[in-house]
Amino acid sequence: MVKSRVQFICQNCGSVHQRWAGKCDACGEWNTLVEEGTSGGIGSGPANSRNARKGRAVVLTTLSGDIEDAPRIISGIGELDRATGGGFVRGSALLVGGDPGIGKSTLLTQAAAALASKGHRIVYVSGEEAVAQIRLRAQRLGVASAPVELAAETNVEDILATIADGKRPDLVILDSIQTLWTDLADSAPGTVTQVRAAAQAMIRYAKSTGAAIVLVGHVTKEGQIAGPRVVEHMVDGVLYFEGEGGHHFRILRTVKNRFGPTDEIGVFEMSDKGLREVSNPSELFLGERHAKSPGAAVFAGMEGTRPVLVEIQALVAASSLGTPRRAVVGWDGARLSMILAVLEAHCGVRFGQHDVYLNVAGGYRISEPAADLAVAAALVSSLTGLALPADCVYFGEISLSGAVRPVAHAQQRLKEAEKLGFGSAVLPLGSEELAGGIGAGAFQPTELADLVARIAGSRRGRADDEE
Ligand code: TYD
Ligand code: MG
Repeated sequence: MVKSRVQFICQNCGSVHQRWAGKCDACGEWNTLVEEGTSGGIGSGPANSRNARKGRAVVLTTLSGDIEDAPRIISGIGELDRATGGGFVRGSALLVGGDPGIGKSTLLTQAAAALASKGHRIVYVSGEEAVAQIRLRAQRLGVASAPVELAAETNVEDILATIADGKRPDLVILDSIQTLWTDLADSAPGTVTQVRAAAQAMIRYAKSTGAAIVLVGHVTKEGQIAGPRVVEHMVDGVLYFEGEGGHHFRILRTVKNRFGPTDEIGVFEMSDKGLREVSNPSELFLGERHAKSPGAAVFAGMEGTRPVLVEIQALVAASSLGTPRRAVVGWDGARLSMILAVLEAHCGVRFGQHDVYLNVAGGYRISEPAADLAVAAALVSSLTGLALPADCVYFGEISLSGAVRPVAHAQQRLKEAEKLGFGSAVLPLGSEELAGGIGAGAFQPTELADLVARIAGSRRGRADDEE
């Protein structure tokens, strides 16, 4: 008999503690430590060393060799295939994470139906919903006739026995990983130990049979159940499905991909008949734009290989507080502080008495430093009350010295802007060769102060017109 040792595992970060505490030392979350037994469980390691068996020799092989079937299964849903790097990879495990209710089951039902209609064997196992609920969703999506094999089950051993029957499935979807449990671990479903053990069993199945596996994981804030983070390192790819409440579009963002690029996004719109692909996101993000109001600047960004235009909105208002407010949605708060500091130190623009709010339109999130220039333009425009030209796009990185630095893909960004009817651009000097178009007449400041002077100068221009 192996003596059972009691451990406390943080449900947020997965760190192991010997004693219970209110706060996890590793990640700082409160009330996330849960007692989990380890007798014979996964990861108990040295506790079992006395009855460890002798190792069995495995056959070593070569890098080259036959791979059966096409290595990828293409769903035909363009935005999904883009995010996965060209389709689901056989023999791999993919994690699709996201907030509850964002549309993960909807997306995967649509993908399952599309693949099954093409003749692939697709198994959809739901641990969250009853068969009737899944059927209702399929009806709503208009895919009820697709030959997807469906089960409502949560035990890993039962699932493996079920799919071992008949032809090997091409894709197995497990919705969600937090409902699965295996006989091998004796913790409650949803705990870190169970989630890891169940994921491990399914990944082992994928590697040994060549079926592709999709694990759905809910992002959890309270730490009541283990979040998808605890299996991120075990799977081959991680996609997060994101969106803002109140907006219809959803972004499928690649966070990890052992078989493709990690900076791609897929863009969808949630409609009453499921998710619709958005192949030109710029049109969507600029759709709600009110040109001509101060504080708005259009940023020409890049997401992986694709240019995305989005509006950045700033509001600078006189503050009645001792410490003025800075609030950011869709961008990095630390980066905003940096831009404000550069504007104060090198351009003589003062924000010390003002609240500053920054918003990226449409619930979109920007991680590129190339947005600096558009943010600075929006801030100065709002502070001065001078609207920026409505047909102008901005991109460029700003350094702490106040210099405007070149960014990659200038030509591609400009081309997208041109396609959407923009007529001018502000971008860094020293970007790659610009072949005509709006690049030819672009304003290319080397210092942020040049751009500030230009925006402030537009007041004089306008006053002259009125005289
Ligand atoms: P769901 O896929 O169940 O989310 P998740 O699996 O991530 O928890 O989607 C739930 C939301 O999507 C729900 O609020 C209803 C909405 N929805 C639509 O707007 N249109 C549709 O066609 C479907 C199926 C769902
Ligand atoms: Mg769901």
